Amino acid sequence: MSIHDLVAKEQPDEFVFSPENELLIEKIVAKYPKGKQASAVMPLLDLAQRQHNNWIPMKAIELIAERLQMAKIRVLEVASFYTMYNLKPVGKYFLQLCGTTPCMLRGSDDLSRCIEDKLGISSGEMTEDGKFSVLEVECLGACVNAPIVQVNDDFYEDLDYDSMSSLIESLNKNSPLPIGSVKCRFGSQAETGPTSLIKLTKKSSFKKSSKKLDKKADTFAKQAGNKFNAQR
Ligand code: FES
Repeated sequence: MSIHDLVAKEQPDEFVFSPENELLIEKIVAKYPKGKQASAVMPLLDLAQRQHNNWIPMKAIELIAERLQMAKIRVLEVASFYTMYNLKPVGKYFLQLCGTTPCMLRGSDDLSRCIEDKLGISSGEMTEDGKFSVLEVECLGACVNAPIVQVNDDFYEDLDYDSMSSLIESLNKNSPLPIGSVKCRFGSQAETGPTSLIKLTKKSSFKKSSKKLDKKADTFAKQAGNKFNAQR
């Protein structure tokens, strides 16, 4: 793959950090010892991406290299290694579908099929209206609630074809479903309830969390047209 495949063909003529981000950059760089500013490369790339509609133009790579006294290629190496950085425009809703073994065994292929059926796009593609794009990624670190889809900064867990379909519909209406497990599991607890530390679950703090989850489950069921209520 050449660099031309990695980065967007159409690039802005310039990139400058906003005054708010300039203040944040000062604080971030100050965390590292003198001469080790290069360690700030990842948070600065993140700031650039958030400021620039969720993708990093080459002008931002150059600016960060200059700020941190790094070779441009070193900054580009970092930005192109991690899938959390986008070097091309992505949709308003950027779906990162985990396809690593635990998610694959728990049905990530069904989610991929659902995305293709509903949006007509597969990994690396964006819908014509720019509302959705999808990328298959490696483990998102939430395997216990597989399969997982990350939408922008949020995780949706325990998905299947139907819940993926409801999620897409909710995003299409700009009214996303509640984040987390679509089965409203508490953390990564067994679906049938706690199987260990039973005493802990009787404590009031846990009860409070359970109440919150019940509320979340109700919202989810309401938004998803009561589809999932039957599963609870
Ligand atoms: S394998 Fe999908 S989150 Fe780890």
